Amino acid sequence: MIDLPPAEADCAIRARGLRKLFGTLAAVDGIDLNVPSRHVYGFLGPNGSGKTTTIRMLCGLLTPSAGTVEVLGLSIPAQAEALRSRIGYMTQRFSLFEDLSVSENLEFLAAVHGVPKAKTRARIEELIERFRFGDRRQQLAGTLSGGQKQRLALAGAIIHDPQLLFLDEPTSAVDPESRRDFWETLFELADSGTTLLVSTHLMDEAERCHRLAILDRGRLVADGTPAELTGALRGRTLTIETGTPRRVQRALAGLPGVAGAAQVGNALRVLIEPGIGDARTQVEAAILQAGLHAEVAETAPNLEDVFVAATRGGGIRAERAA
Ligand SMILES: Nc1ncnc2c1ncn2[C@@H]1O[C@H](COP(=O)(O)OP(=O)(O)O)[C@@H](O)[C@H]1O
Ligand SMILES: [Mg+2]
Repeated sequence: MIDLPPAEADCAIRARGLRKLFGTLAAVDGIDLNVPSRHVYGFLGPNGSGKTTTIRMLCGLLTPSAGTVEVLGLSIPAQAEALRSRIGYMTQRFSLFEDLSVSENLEFLAAVHGVPKAKTRARIEELIERFRFGDRRQQLAGTLSGGQKQRLALAGAIIHDPQLLFLDEPTSAVDPESRRDFWETLFELADSGTTLLVSTHLMDEAERCHRLAILDRGRLVADGTPAELTGALRGRTLTIETGTPRRVQRALAGLPGVAGAAQVGNALRVLIEPGIGDARTQVEAAILQAGLHAEVAETAPNLEDVFVAATRGGGIRAERAA
């Protein structure tokens, strides 16, 4: 079910020509987006690529310079007020009160989000149980570990049971164990019917999403399922094992058809432009001609390759050519 392209009718978010100018800077530069319901949808891009700005426009917190946005059937920003109770937003810096306890933070957020008083107690208990705060309900939020703060921020963001949840780089401040745990929770939420839009600059997180969009300098440069995106590069990625990676990298830097060569440990990872016949043979020949020795093998493309291909696959650039 997950691999089907999103049917227009079942989209939680639809944006067309979305744009935001800050002075002369186009922070978001004409984005079209379809986020299908009940998916974990990833927003992958480096710092400054426009992830936060896009999310803020989709939430109705920032007015677009151009374009149209529809979220949960509402026209944004015109109907942003009606949207507020139906979405959750976990910001890059968790907005917890450090000198309030775990329960007090949740009580406060329940009030802010308009959870009916009669339901607040039960909802907080449910979340304390689910996010494993049973023995910490009186602990001050400021004294929690990074992973615990993140869990508490997530509990706070869903206290009013939103249909759609925006998470802006939610794992940037936590350890790998907590990240894994956190992602399990995100999939549980999607299974129970919530749509999630998660921004990240981490490839391994993007790989876990049902679908994702790749952003670069305010533009959406690729979107699809991770398998679709990497599948499109089949046959175009090579790994080169060599004792002299820097010299091999230099030998390939000027070679027609080589879109990028990045060092990974002692190996090189090479991306080939589309339509180059037997890339492996050509690369092997170039290495021999330079008087170097290396083992060249085809390798499975990953999202980093997709990113390189989407942003500068047409050009020839060795990432650290000296
Ligand atoms: N309020 C603002 N005023 C001016 N420039 C901004 C503002 N917010 C973001 N920018 C700029 O817009 C670009 C995109 O920023 P942002 O959306 O925060 O990217 P990301 O979240 O992907 O790191 C950056 O160049 C950033 O400096
Ligand atoms: Mg950001």
